[in-house]
Amino acid sequence: MKKITLLFAFITISGFAQQSATPTGLVASKAMVVSARAEASKIGVEIMKKGGNAFDAMAATELALAVAYPYAGNIGGGGFMVYRKANGEVGSLDYREKAPLAATKDMFLDKDGNVIKGKSTETALAIGVPGTIAGVFAVHKKLGSLPMSEILKPIIALAEKGVIVTQKQQKQLESYHDAIVKINGPNTLMAGRFKENDTIKYPALAQTLKRILKNGKDEFYKGQTAKTLVTYLQKKGGIITLKDLAAYEAKWRKPLQFDYKDLKVTSMAPPSSGGICLAQIMKMISPFYLSKMGHNSEQSIQVIVEAERRAYADRSQFLGDPDFVKIPVNGLLSDTYLKERMSNFNPEKASLSSEIKEGKVTYNESTETTHYSIVDQFGNAVAATTTINDGFGSKYYCDELGFFLNNEMDDFSAKPGSPNMFGLVGNEANSIAPQKRMLSSMTPTIVEKNGELYMVVGSPGGSTIITSVLQAILNVYEYNLSMQEAVNAPRFHHQWLPDLITFEPNAFDNITIDKLKAKGYLINEKTTPVIGKLDCILVLPNKTLEGGADFRGDDTAAGF
Ligand code: GLY
Repeated sequence: MKKITLLFAFITISGFAQQSATPTGLVASKAMVVSARAEASKIGVEIMKKGGNAFDAMAATELALAVAYPYAGNIGGGGFMVYRKANGEVGSLDYREKAPLAATKDMFLDKDGNVIKGKSTETALAIGVPGTIAGVFAVHKKLGSLPMSEILKPIIALAEKGVIVTQKQQKQLESYHDAIVKINGPNTLMAGRFKENDTIKYPALAQTLKRILKNGKDEFYKGQTAKTLVTYLQKKGGIITLKDLAAYEAKWRKPLQFDYKDLKVTSMAPPSSGGICLAQIMKMISPFYLSKMGHNSEQSIQVIVEAERRAYADRSQFLGDPDFVKIPVNGLLSDTYLKERMSNFNPEKASLSSEIKEGKVTYNESTETTHYSIVDQFGNAVAATTTINDGFGSKYYCDELGFFLNNEMDDFSAKPGSPNMFGLVGNEANSIAPQKRMLSSMTPTIVEKNGELYMVVGSPGGSTIITSVLQAILNVYEYNLSMQEAVNAPRFHHQWLPDLITFEPNAFDNITIDKLKAKGYLINEKTTPVIGKLDCILVLPNKTLEGGADFRGDDTAAGF
């Protein structure tokens, strides 16, 4: 007992001196892009080689992923971008989808008030008004330096030339084949039986991008593309109108910033839960000596899980679109509140989620999404996470335009307490309303150390995004892993409800898991193949950049 208590003793330390880990990922001297596909990372890097900055590369990488990675890259979805300029200025852009004007609070419920299974994920009503094109143009207008034609040219060329199918992509296409055919019929491009090393050409998408190049953002929201999209959606039973598209705007928002020991973390504020949850978890674990407890040790896992449990409980109660609900950000992040929140943590016994409700705060958001990290030769950094929610989104693929539409409406809370596809429960704060943005878990994050750029981090993975980002930062900072090792390391996850710790399969030793079980922790024994897919960059002490590209996907770092 005495030994255990000592191990969990509250020792406040601030980043102790230790040798940085030897890099094991790609090292580049000036600039880097890490994304889900080699084609996208290379296009982003080429833009920077031509003299473009990280923001030009953001526009290029985002759109290249829409071509090379239709599983999650998109122009039919939305996302969030966090940036840090070379001069230290930070900012963030919200290009999250919005509920259509005709959306209603009870639109996914039956006459008895019960959630109709699949209605928020597999019907055209699941589609939120897309934000990606508005986001790309907003970033380019405010912060870009190259003409849009320079950025779009290689992407249009990629769509025309086609993209080679990887082994992992073949599996994705196989596993979603029937769902795609069910919605779009057998003749849709994406129902093709593509095999590894085949080339898929995207001529319709190339034409859409050419029109966007000619007519700008308005092409997507008011032009021929908008009209074709609305006609397609209405035929499929959707409710998005031309008015919805015309009204869509991306929004610049103040990012969420907090300190963790000697790090300053900048992440996404609501309507993403990412920044607030990450801040709550990191603040709750900061008094504990994690590095001494050891990477993925029983003790470290316990501390982190208990903080995650408490943060996700608050997420479900308090978080939603700040344009619609008042969020007690200061209360949720107050040191006093978070200290109190961890005060009933017992190192010898698991807390129960049934006993952990949201805290009392004074008032004053598949699994599939994709993240990319960029650092340019000028010292600017971009972390951007973009999604169509599920793999291939709603599976609605408009062949005439060449892209999939999201099913982001499932990220709303269709009914208080009823879990969405990630098992996340929500409340009134995240209920459906016209023009409201659905709560997200996307956590594009930039970390500074001693006032200088240190890490650019992010991941897909629905509810596991936040805990994956957390582990990437801790793996480098607390456990002294290289960026690539930090990305490779096995991950675990807890989200309050269901009250289960999920471990990456076959990656944790049974002794650790058995010890946790003995303390009352409930373990998710089901196979959950992916917990996040991290794409990160670490600035090394000599100012070169180490990429961490997740081996769990086709993710690739490129740089110069
Ligand atoms: N659709 C996943 C998220 O935004 O968190």
